[in-house]
Amino acid sequence: MAAAVNFIMKVSMPPSSILETAAGKAPAQFYADGCEKLVASSALRCVELACQARYAVTDVSYQCPSCGGLLEVVYDWSQANTRLWTQIWRARRMDNQPLNQSGVWRYREILPFLDRPEHVVTLREGNTPILGSPLAARYAGLAQISFKHQGFNPTGSFKDNGMTAGVAQAKRLGKTRVACVSTGNTSASMAAYASAAGLTPVIFLPHGNISFGKLAQALEYGAVTLQVDANFDQILALVRDVCEHSDVYLLNSINPFRIEGQKTMAIELLDQLDWAVPDWVVMPGGNLGNASAFGKGFLEAHELGLISKLPRIAVVQAAGAAPFYEFVMDTQKGFHAVSRPETLATAIRIGDPVSWPKAWRVIKDTRGVVEIASEQEIADAKAVIGKSGIGCEPASAATLAGIRKLVGQGVIGRNENVLAILTGSLLKDPDYIYRYHTGELKSPQGNAIEGTFSNRPRVVESSAAAILKMLEGS
Ligand code: F0G
Repeated sequence: MAAAVNFIMKVSMPPSSILETAAGKAPAQFYADGCEKLVASSALRCVELACQARYAVTDVSYQCPSCGGLLEVVYDWSQANTRLWTQIWRARRMDNQPLNQSGVWRYREILPFLDRPEHVVTLREGNTPILGSPLAARYAGLAQISFKHQGFNPTGSFKDNGMTAGVAQAKRLGKTRVACVSTGNTSASMAAYASAAGLTPVIFLPHGNISFGKLAQALEYGAVTLQVDANFDQILALVRDVCEHSDVYLLNSINPFRIEGQKTMAIELLDQLDWAVPDWVVMPGGNLGNASAFGKGFLEAHELGLISKLPRIAVVQAAGAAPFYEFVMDTQKGFHAVSRPETLATAIRIGDPVSWPKAWRVIKDTRGVVEIASEQEIADAKAVIGKSGIGCEPASAATLAGIRKLVGQGVIGRNENVLAILTGSLLKDPDYIYRYHTGELKSPQGNAIEGTFSNRPRVVESSAAAILKMLEGS
């Protein structure tokens, strides 16, 4: 009992007037005191250092009209009074207001681009756990490892963190139709959030190359679903064309407001760790929006004085779809797309990641690294995460596979504090799992993937004696 009282006392409460605002009891005030200046300062800015052109936060541009560079949302952080933010965020966790229950909007002071809260639709995204696994730590050669599991999100992937923000911007701009191309998770997420917001989701998918679970989500959430006989990169070019010549709003991660929502994953994990910074944060890389978002979140938290050091970021790509890895290995050669990306981790089957310039900046700013993992390495790491009672989809398991290699090379120290991001739920791709455990999984080139940790279902006769006999050896 004493411990419980202590615990409650330790969560030092902000003054009651601020708590009321934070708890949403004064709806007129959405942000904590003083944030009006931040909202007023929000703008879009070109990430190219030689350009840095600024545009209104309400402009509908996905790339810099002046130089073609990527855009990001920026604020004048010198106007920020962060003194009570961490306390306000903690207090909101105990509040029943929908926006405070959201693991994205609870942290709204760090993404103050919206002027009106009515534009937000929340499915209570975020709030994902950090889970330890001694088994995975042993497999990687580490003393300990933990996973932040974004698969606990409403549609089963990290995309929900960004989608709630992207859809809020769509509503603010008065858009009625939104579109994306996807390897599956973005489309599932966009379909859910757009439908919940009363918008029409239009989804483009690489025909035959997304998992059935993700396609099923898009259909069930009511999206107009178009399957195109081309790969992700080719379809993205097509969709951008469609969006530029219509009023359809593009919600791929090139949309900077998606990145704003996604960056709260970094803030939430720091809040969960009581603002202690891990040595490494490791994530899979496809289109590289996620690495860009995590990097922006950590860098802004650092700039705002919420943390005193930065974690090192490691991005792991599938070996058959690794243009960013190739680039980082030899930057002199410049960035070159992979024209025919191949991997069974279909979520990261991307050869021409649009956000690579942002992700590159993150790697440089955090002394980060990029690694690759083979099909076999991903499959085995995935089974280890599964056997830990955690589970994830194939792309997410690239993290553990990459960490194991980085520990082997001495890049990550055995006693370093490593946090890996599991991006999607185990249930996203059950077909892959069944094949792995029954020895039927084949690489895109047709080579057998070994079921190193396979767990075959067994057929048993319907009798207690036969079952007991079978269980003898288990
Ligand atoms: N993990 C999963 C489960 C994903 O779905 C994705 C991307 C990634 C990792 C890579 O993240 O692209 O930000 O580097 N999926 C996108 C989609 C491309 O369409 O669902 P990234």
